[in-house]
Amino acid sequence: MREASLCTSLEEFLAGLAGEFSLSPAAAREVVAGFHGEMERGLGGEKSSLKMLPSFVRRPRGDERGGFLALDLGGTKVRVLAVSLEGEGRASLSAVSRFAIPREIMTGTGEGLFDFLAGCIGDFSAAHRLDRRRHHELAFTFSFPVEQLAIAAGRLIAWTKGFAAGGVEGREVVGLLRAALRRRGLEHIHVVALANDTVGTLMAASYADPACDMGVILGTGTNACYPEKTERLRKYPAAGPEREMIVNMEWGNFDLLPVNAYDRMLDQASLNAGRQRLEKMVSGMYLGELVRLVILEMISQGLLFQETDKPLFAVPYSLTSEHMALASGGDEFFRALGIAATTPTERRSVAEICRLVATRAARLVGASIAAVVAWMDPPLTSDHTVAIDGSLFEKYPGFQEGMREMLAELLEERAERIKFTLSKDGSGIGAAIIAAVAASMPGAAGDLLRRQGKGRKAAGYGKG
Ligand code: BGC
Repeated sequence: MREASLCTSLEEFLAGLAGEFSLSPAAAREVVAGFHGEMERGLGGEKSSLKMLPSFVRRPRGDERGGFLALDLGGTKVRVLAVSLEGEGRASLSAVSRFAIPREIMTGTGEGLFDFLAGCIGDFSAAHRLDRRRHHELAFTFSFPVEQLAIAAGRLIAWTKGFAAGGVEGREVVGLLRAALRRRGLEHIHVVALANDTVGTLMAASYADPACDMGVILGTGTNACYPEKTERLRKYPAAGPEREMIVNMEWGNFDLLPVNAYDRMLDQASLNAGRQRLEKMVSGMYLGELVRLVILEMISQGLLFQETDKPLFAVPYSLTSEHMALASGGDEFFRALGIAATTPTERRSVAEICRLVATRAARLVGASIAAVVAWMDPPLTSDHTVAIDGSLFEKYPGFQEGMREMLAELLEERAERIKFTLSKDGSGIGAAIIAAVAASMPGAAGDLLRRQGKGRKAAGYGKG
């Protein structure tokens, strides 16, 4: 590696690494400007790394009511939930089932994946004794880039986060789910809405807090959404009479970024080379892999561990962000990886690598949030609540502080107008709110739902 090859000592290497993983305020301002250019182009339907996808919903008013099911497919787990919307901003989960997705299902056939999802709904329906004589409306949170065609229809643009089920890219995913439900004899389940997890997260938080105008996911993957004025959504002129529509930015694919040699290596060896460049610098799926690549380089240069230790770090993606979170705590990181004896220098070096990789991630997220808020409100005269879900935000030591520091460097005292709120598991509840909002919206989205029978009373779900 070019950057590293000149180094002769450990300290020199680590100092160089700090430079490679830094994001100075000047570089962050370039990221913000890059975002604004790509947002403008994406909204206009021009070539852009930000797809700016319409969601067909606006934010809720807080008075939506009803009972809905939600199917939440995001990372390595699927959840089926029953959600009760009680109005006055109150929503509750009345039942939840969780299922782990086997790796062979994630990367097998599309039919296999959707049969698996229908199976999860079938198990939930049996476990919670859903009445098969009435219809149950289900909102589908599908956390991948989707070209949404209507509130309950959208085509998968490309898989992310290690998914690769065959024959799904380019296909309409609600149709695939409905077909799988039919194959399973689950005709009492009606899919009435399709949503990205960021949109669900924003909906869930803004149901109770009208100042909430951004949804962000910082977990296995990363992404954000915000309400856009319909007149600025130039690529979708038929947005209807509503004044705003939530836009799923797919910011994980943003690519006007200062990348280093490790970023390039990771990207080239990934399943989706050239895509999701911000995600590969920021999200939980990739941070450990960056650390692993740095450690391997240091072993090769004779700066850390022994050449014979290389096999411990040989398996791609074996080092996770959960491991990284342990790095500042003595030898816990090494024990979690099954490494028995380490020196203080090794522990200090690994802790420093993790700190550099995680700090850059947090600062990049801070700059990205600053870009979106400044787009919505350039003088920053209003308060903004950013609803955030995901383990990096919730659990990674120092991550939130890193994000806040970046905001303060970019926006100075105006950064105080931006509040973060953890919207835990909001994506499922939010999907139910989307179904309820869509039913009340005039125009294509509402009509589509009404045609599917939303005029009838929704099934209620008791606590249990
Ligand atoms: C997907 C997004 C999703 C994000 C967070 C990304 O890989 O492309 O659609 O919102 O992960 O789950």
